[in-house]
Amino acid sequence: MGIDKFDGKEIEYLKEVLASGRLSGQADGFKGKVEAAFAEAFGVKHAIAGNAAMSLLIASVYAAGAGAGDEVMCDPLVQFHAISALWQNARPTWADVCPDTWLMDPESARANITPQTKAICCTHLWGQPCEVDALRKVADDAGVVLIEDCAHAMFLPYKDKYVGTWGHIGVLSLCQGKHMTTGDGGIALTDDDELDRRIRSIIAFGESPPHLATVFRMTEMTAAVALVQLEKVKGYIEEYRKSYGVLEEVVSGCEWLQSRVVKDGCGNSPYIFSCLFRGDEKGIELEDFKQALFETGENFNIGFTQVPAYKYKLFTQPMAYQNKGCPLHNCPYYEGDYEYKDGLCPTAEEILPRLVNTNCMIAEDDAKRVADALSRAIAQAEGK
Ligand SMILES: Cc1ncc(COP(=O)(O)O)c(C=O)c1O
Repeated sequence: MGIDKFDGKEIEYLKEVLASGRLSGQADGFKGKVEAAFAEAFGVKHAIAGNAAMSLLIASVYAAGAGAGDEVMCDPLVQFHAISALWQNARPTWADVCPDTWLMDPESARANITPQTKAICCTHLWGQPCEVDALRKVADDAGVVLIEDCAHAMFLPYKDKYVGTWGHIGVLSLCQGKHMTTGDGGIALTDDDELDRRIRSIIAFGESPPHLATVFRMTEMTAAVALVQLEKVKGYIEEYRKSYGVLEEVVSGCEWLQSRVVKDGCGNSPYIFSCLFRGDEKGIELEDFKQALFETGENFNIGFTQVPAYKYKLFTQPMAYQNKGCPLHNCPYYEGDYEYKDGLCPTAEEILPRLVNTNCMIAEDDAKRVADALSRAIAQAEGK
């Protein structure tokens, strides 16, 4: 459980919405207010409120101009961008991650740009920032759109700005279990008037839309809760930073768990605490450590998804469009030669089964209990 509380103005605002009878998002209502509040808090020109980060990622890929025959470069540790690409009939490609941060490697992104690439989607995975200035340079040099997935990265500093404001578009998630939640919800950030217009044009249905518009809007109820939670979220993140520190202390004291590096200029908005198992280099079996963690009864995960997203069935088999193979396996518009094969992202393949993860969006006292459990599991795996 996180530490978020809904005992303030949320009820008052929700009553106001219900009394007004206008429940769908209103530019002059809570939706408008929450957009203005996020734009101000992040220092960007436009904040667009949607019903989920996923919807806004799909809209962002559209706004970037990606469609049939185009490529969208994705993060191999998660599948959200590759799915967003498929929604626009574009093909996902993948850039590898760095071995010390597990975040998109700008050099790999540069190496994987092709004439078909229309967008790069990077993830500030589990609350740590990508080298997003370097990624922006890669995107600008190639003339493509950089979409930052900030679902794990609320108010996460990178150098002198928050992530989400370095790329052309940043997308925040307000779903359950994120730094701040409204149940479901998302916010897209951009300084670009045209990208703002294009995203808005498909998240709300006009009378006769010129393209595949749909309804990805945020409701007034969601916006009302978001407006209040926005005032509280930096407090939650402060608490989570303490919890992260408690867990990191245990890992930095263990010679066979590799800490995740937080580079200079990079902040941390802790989401999932993560380190890498390197016990096999010291004669410790992964299975023994797994069992020891399991016996603590705490919520640890080893290996996350085990394999990178490009090995998921959704991308290796022709399932996405009723088993017809589009757009991955037989798109008549595709002129590239990107090949889906094992070994596309060797670092991602090497680290995924070794990831040791636990939720760190918990109160400091709970983190001490989890840290204790981790220490016990380490000792047990070492046979002490
Ligand atoms: C990295 C990442 N991106 C995008 C999403 C999608 O967020 P939402 O549930 O708001 O659509 C998630 C959800 O967990 C996520 O973890």
